[in-house]
Amino acid sequence: MSKNALKSNFSPLNSEGSPSRIPNSPIVTPSINSNDNNDRTANDRVKVILRVRPPTANDERKRTSPLEFDPAKPNKLVLHRPDAPVTHTEFEFDRVLPPGATQQDVYLSGVKDVVDDVLKGYNGTVMAYGQTGAGKTYTLGNIQPQAIGMIPRCAAEIFYQASNDPFHTYSVSMSYIQIYMELIQDLLNPQSDNLVIREDSGNGVFVAGVQEVPVSSLEECLHYLAVGEQNRAFAFTHLNAHSSRSHAVVMLTVVKRRRYLTPAEKQAEKKAEREGVSTHKVKVGKLYLVDLAGSERLKKSKSVGQRATEARSINLSLTTLGMCISARAMDDKHVPFRDSKLTRLLQESLGGNAKTTLLVNVASAQEHADETMQSLSFASRAMCVKNKPVVNERVDYKILHAELQSRMDKENDRASHLEVALSKKEEALDDAMQAAVANEKARFEAIIAALQRENEQRVAHMHSEMEGVRELAAHEQAHRNSLEKRIKELEVEKANMAEKHYNHVAMLNAQIADLLERQAEEATAHRQAAQAAALEMASAEATMAQKEAENERLRNEMGKMQQEMGVLASAHKSTLAALAKLRQSLEAAMPDAAAAAPTVDRQRSSDLPPLTYRPDQSRRAPVLRQSSEPVRSSAAAAAAAAAA
Ligand SMILES: Nc1ncnc2c1ncn2[C@@H]1O[C@H](COP(=O)(O)OP(=O)(O)OP(=O)(O)O)[C@@H](O)[C@H]1O
Ligand SMILES: [Mg+2]
Repeated sequence: MSKNALKSNFSPLNSEGSPSRIPNSPIVTPSINSNDNNDRTANDRVKVILRVRPPTANDERKRTSPLEFDPAKPNKLVLHRPDAPVTHTEFEFDRVLPPGATQQDVYLSGVKDVVDDVLKGYNGTVMAYGQTGAGKTYTLGNIQPQAIGMIPRCAAEIFYQASNDPFHTYSVSMSYIQIYMELIQDLLNPQSDNLVIREDSGNGVFVAGVQEVPVSSLEECLHYLAVGEQNRAFAFTHLNAHSSRSHAVVMLTVVKRRRYLTPAEKQAEKKAEREGVSTHKVKVGKLYLVDLAGSERLKKSKSVGQRATEARSINLSLTTLGMCISARAMDDKHVPFRDSKLTRLLQESLGGNAKTTLLVNVASAQEHADETMQSLSFASRAMCVKNKPVVNERVDYKILHAELQSRMDKENDRASHLEVALSKKEEALDDAMQAAVANEKARFEAIIAALQRENEQRVAHMHSEMEGVRELAAHEQAHRNSLEKRIKELEVEKANMAEKHYNHVAMLNAQIADLLERQAEEATAHRQAAQAAALEMASAEATMAQKEAENERLRNEMGKMQQEMGVLASAHKSTLAALAKLRQSLEAAMPDAAAAAPTVDRQRSSDLPPLTYRPDQSRRAPVLRQSSEPVRSSAAAAAAAAAA
């Protein structure tokens, strides 16, 4: 459709086909309760709206749908699959829009609130997901007057609210890109077909070098949409006669500035100006409107060649998208955003700094039940993805630039004034300098002359001093010569003495050596003598020990002999006693004889032999050595007596 056709057919609408004015009112007249499901109280999670496409003429022939809706439960639906292991599955989303729902229903269910937030300075994303032919492009980009899509509605909303906000001024810019076979192409500047994605702390993730065209009305937006649409890749497939072969992203950037300042703010602003700091802040909201290419089964779409290659690339990036959604839903640490250009670009929209609404488009026909199941599962996971949106406030570079420019102009003026003043001052300074230089020159010349005179006197004085010094030096030299001579003599003496000393020391060393040798010899002799003496002593000690043992033995033998002697003495005593008795009996029998015979008692002491010890006959019994005569006589007497 041409731009003019768009303008003429589209502008006066407030709902599908009903008239209104643009931009004075947005394209909204609630046909369902606009408060329904519009809050994002669930921690700013991704909002999921399910839209079921009405059956096509082709589908209608079959007249069956696996989907069941309950008007009393506008956010639930049941999918029946009698042939599957799970025959029916109930799903719950933020909103379920049955085939009869209008574009406005979609808009009010979850798109308008994103735009409202973008106008407050948040980032926002509205993304359409679903199998090929399910109605994504229709929902987002349709520009036919009877069913205006979300992109024109968002643009209309922005310009409507901007024109009705007395407190702020807005500037809006627009970019339009497509990701085709993993290449990012600028649809407003198609030569740029390999743009790169960058990220920085100020802007987050963005497409570097993309054309951002300023837009100030819905008409301009529609114009650029149509331009981009012409450059976007579409193709015929068996599932969609006008199938998108790329993911397309329309980016609307809204910069919001304060129109008026409160007195306190004005004061702060003046102060900041004096200090050369800008306090002007702007809020920047970015709205991403993403029309994804649809997943397709090559069997069903019957795509071959280039179409099949496209389909594989599309399916691959959608798989990565699914993995990122799952990872975010599970709060995984690693989310594979970098695995595809699409997910990298949508990084902030899927769990980052953005308010996101996911429009999931499904077909109602029975033949797409498997794909519908897949889309519903994806949508369920997306319900768990939480975002962390913040208002993007930053320095107003436009105002800052203007301020800096005016300050630079002022500074330039000041600089040129200063330059003029400086050159005048330089001239005056030159004159004054010349006079001062002449004066100073004369003064210095006088000083120099005086210094020269003084110098000459000093030189003369120095000459005379030098003469004295020279004499002193000659005297010193003579003294030095005599000293040197004496030193030489002393050195000779020293050498002689050293030699003598050396000889003496050598002699002493020889003597010491000699002495040491003799001492060693003596020590050896002493040692030998000591050894001999030790040997002798050892043998003497052995002999002594031997003798000691002998003595001990003799002492023992003596003891024994003394005992034997005791025994003999007592025997002798008994013998004497017997003899006495015998004598008595003899005397009694023969008194005369008895009188003639000497008495034993008288003779006892003299007759008993002395007891002596002969060591050389130690082994023999001790011998009683006495005169044998008295004994023999008494024995004879005894024998005679006995015989008698
Ligand atoms: N809600 C709807 N009401 C009426 N017609 C619709 C609706 N949704 C889609 N269609 C029609 O269905 C066809 C396919 O829709 P569309 O091109 O939007 O699908 P798609 O999801 O973008 O597919 P692809 O992924 O292949 O680009 C179009 O002719 C469109 O007009
Ligand atoms: Mg499409």
